[in-house]
Amino acid sequence: MRIGFFDSGIGGLTVLAEALHRLPDKDFLYMADTLHVPYGTKAEEDVRAYILNSVGLMMNEGIDALVVACNTATSIAINDLRERYSLPIVGMEPAVKPAVEMNLATGKRVLVFATPLTLQLPKYYALVSRVDEHGIVDSLPLPELVHYCEALQFDQSIMNDYFLAKLADYDLDQYGIIVLGCTHYPFYKDILRKLLPAHISIVDGNVGTVKRLSALLSRYGIASGGGKGDVQLMCSGREPAYINKMQKALSILRERESLTETQPT
Ligand code: SIN
Repeated sequence: MRIGFFDSGIGGLTVLAEALHRLPDKDFLYMADTLHVPYGTKAEEDVRAYILNSVGLMMNEGIDALVVACNTATSIAINDLRERYSLPIVGMEPAVKPAVEMNLATGKRVLVFATPLTLQLPKYYALVSRVDEHGIVDSLPLPELVHYCEALQFDQSIMNDYFLAKLADYDLDQYGIIVLGCTHYPFYKDILRKLLPAHISIVDGNVGTVKRLSALLSRYGIASGGGKGDVQLMCSGREPAYINKMQKALSILRERESLTETQPT
């Protein structure tokens, strides 16, 4: 049993790290579309073509299920992929619903960080319209953050300057939760934790996605493992240096205890 994880770059590794932790009897194929990363600042139709092409390459390698470990790619192409392929496919959704539920009692607002494209697409609008009955959700596009992440820029002081500039117009006392609505962003969880006031929780959709994957595998009758956590890495640009970077990024994630923090489902 081999599960494919797809992202524009290294962001989906944050979801893969959760899967390695929770589904140790599976093997994995991870693909990064390095020829076209980042997706979140590009035109929707171009990104759709990149996704369909990359996932086609993954299918040629042989996978039994697919996780679209990218919020932007999910918003654009999850329906196309489900029409095209009959295997189980799980996508990402910003954890807005659990965040709203968790925050209602506190009277605080929810702030969603995501790529400009994710925030512009109808899927996000539909999600917020469905769950934000009381109008407590605000959204902040962070177009530069994927670039920082792809450059493995995890310096606390540089990133503090970036986040503080982006948050300058927000009164953080009003917010109870920040939702990380891009799979690259959990790389910054520890940095944000040190920067943000203690009353603000930071959530992402990664644990929920892996739980949905697990449930879907059972529904398809293919839950049994047979693997041992092997990870094959590939990228559309076929650059050996990028494979090294993915290995480094994955080891950073696997070492981080923060991944095991309580997350919404
Ligand atoms: C990106 O390539 O811009 C990141 C996409 C995402 O995870 O939403």
